[in-house]
Amino acid sequence: MEDNRPTTPSFQDLDFVHEALLEEYHKHQDAVVDRDLGKARAHLDQFVLCLKAHIRAEEEVLLPIYVERVPEQVGCSPELLFSEHRKMERLLRRLQDRMVQIEQKGELSSREVVYIIEEGRMMKEVLDHHDRRERAAFFPLLNDAVPDPVERRQIWEEARQIQLEAEGLRETFERIDNLPS
Ligand SMILES: [Fe+2]
Ligand SMILES: [Fe+2]
Repeated sequence: MEDNRPTTPSFQDLDFVHEALLEEYHKHQDAVVDRDLGKARAHLDQFVLCLKAHIRAEEEVLLPIYVERVPEQVGCSPELLFSEHRKMERLLRRLQDRMVQIEQKGELSSREVVYIIEEGRMMKEVLDHHDRRERAAFFPLLNDAVPDPVERRQIWEEARQIQLEAEGLRETFERIDNLPS
């Protein structure tokens, strides 16, 4: 899938990826509440793949540029972003372990549903904090750090290709590609 937008891409458009990630997580939780284990598993798998692809794009492509070119990252240091990514990965593993336990049991009591939703709150909080930080500082500072449109497009494309490996993010990138300029 080619990005044919004539305009200069903005890293701020990754806001839409964050929204898609949160939506996928909500769908997983909705399915837990409905006790639909198949659906809960499918949305969890999607969430894991999408979040991992997004983190990889940031760490392999965007963060190295950020580290190199943005000297003052008040409230949004690379160390903080990296450590929040690790925290999300730990929470992902916990969610996956919990899902396996549920599947082995084959059913969920009301109390277990409540417990799982409560336990899952931590992931929402980390996603939210991380989203605010990247929205307010990481993405705009990255835009400033890469003012040249040709270079910006090249970096955007590299980060986009990694994220397109997660099927669940393809629709989001189509949406970004079709944004009015
Ligand atoms: Fe992000
Ligand atoms: Fe991130």
